[in-house]
Amino acid sequence: MKFLTPFIATLSLLAVPTFGRIWDNDQLRPDTTIDTKLAVSLLDTKEAAKGGWKTYKPDAKELSYKGRWDSRHTSWWSAPGLKFGFTGEKVAISFGKYTSPGVLIAFRYAGQDWQFTNVTAGQTHELISSRPLTSDPSKTPTSFELRVTNWAYGVQIAGVHIPRSERLYRIPDFPKRLEVIGDSLSAGMYASYESLSSWAYLTAAGFGNVEYSISAYPGICVTDQECWGNPRGQVHQWAYTSDGNVRQNETWGNKPEKWNFKKQQPADIVIINLGTNDNNTANGVKNEDYVRSYKQLIDNVHSVFPRAQIIAMGLWNGFGPSGETYTPSPAFVKEIPEIVQSANRKYRKEFVHYFDVTGILQHNDIGPGTWHPTDIGQMKVAAQMQMFIKMKFGWKSESVGPMVHSGTYIYNDECCY
Ligand SMILES: *[C@@H]1O[C@H](CO)[C@@H](O)[C@H](O)[C@H]1NC(C)=O
Ligand SMILES: *[C@@H]1O[C@H](CO)[C@@H](O)[C@H](O)[C@H]1NC(C)=O
Ligand SMILES: *[C@@H]1O[C@H](CO)[C@@H](O)[C@H](O)[C@H]1NC(C)=O
Repeated sequence: MKFLTPFIATLSLLAVPTFGRIWDNDQLRPDTTIDTKLAVSLLDTKEAAKGGWKTYKPDAKELSYKGRWDSRHTSWWSAPGLKFGFTGEKVAISFGKYTSPGVLIAFRYAGQDWQFTNVTAGQTHELISSRPLTSDPSKTPTSFELRVTNWAYGVQIAGVHIPRSERLYRIPDFPKRLEVIGDSLSAGMYASYESLSSWAYLTAAGFGNVEYSISAYPGICVTDQECWGNPRGQVHQWAYTSDGNVRQNETWGNKPEKWNFKKQQPADIVIINLGTNDNNTANGVKNEDYVRSYKQLIDNVHSVFPRAQIIAMGLWNGFGPSGETYTPSPAFVKEIPEIVQSANRKYRKEFVHYFDVTGILQHNDIGPGTWHPTDIGQMKVAAQMQMFIKMKFGWKSESVGPMVHSGTYIYNDECCY
């Protein structure tokens, strides 16, 4: 039996990121991004006054940052977000100089669907210019949410602007929080909307009532060594606000900020999906180093979130044709269940749980060219993970709520074949 060796690369090593263009079976998907850039910057107080705008600073208490943001209000890792309530019909945001060129954000308001727009450093983007469904928008506060879709890129919030007579509100957090620690498989690498198509986002956002933070970056190992261009492994990097990659280098040099775990409510569930890169011979990680590092990460998680339940996911590599069928290439099949048992023994309680992924993905749920789940593969993992969490921990989803998946109902939305 011969297994193919999956190549889990990091895009940070490749010259041309594919963001912005989305391919559907070799056809370019029609561009649905909208242009939101204003001709002037509203950080210029004269321009703001002329247009009747007022500005909230990025540290205004009305703004809730989701996931990891540094002290300069720059976003990191996967699907970081910003949420607030507002009155009125207009919202504009100015983006600071640490905003990555080409970054794509998703945003939504008033329960409407995600919209996508490219934002630019040093510019103001008018994201909302009317609220057609509301008769008296000044009296009816509604919610605004933004998420960064690209795992490699980030935005810096420099100011939030609304008309002078309106106001912002802080939206209270949902009571539960879910944290994911992962690599490319959790960051949604190669999926249509990257982070916003990842099983990690789909699982958390799909509940409709949990806060979430996804510390995932392609190519990263759990073991603290260089893997596919990531200088450090998650056993080290998870404690930091930033992801350890080029962007961190450019903005923080070798003095990255430690993450203050007290900044957000403690996680109730922490899902770990790590090892695909440690298992790749190209990175030369020894099995015993993987096991030691994974156990250390569990210790680290348990010490910052002593009440959290931890889910250790089994891994999936790609499939290879074998005889008359397809066979998945295994990764740390024995090691992960043993790590789970060993942690529960050590702490004398069952707080680490093994999530067996066997059979969730069939061979065509993993892109043969990318070795990563397709959009449908991501959804399958998310659906089963949600069910696992519901059955094991009694979590319930909302039956109503805003859009979670984007760009999926283009398929088969035709009658009368
Ligand atoms: C956003 O960026 C992508 C990729 O560069 C581009 O294809 C798209 O046209 C841009 N959208 C707008 C509205 O300019
Ligand atoms: C960060 O910068 C240092 C010094 O210039 C360099 O040695 C290192 O490879 C860089 N790391 C990344 C991930 O770009
Ligand atoms: C990867 O996982 C397989 C299956 O559990 C194991 O046999 C192998 O030793 C691991 N390889 C590496 C390089 O870690």
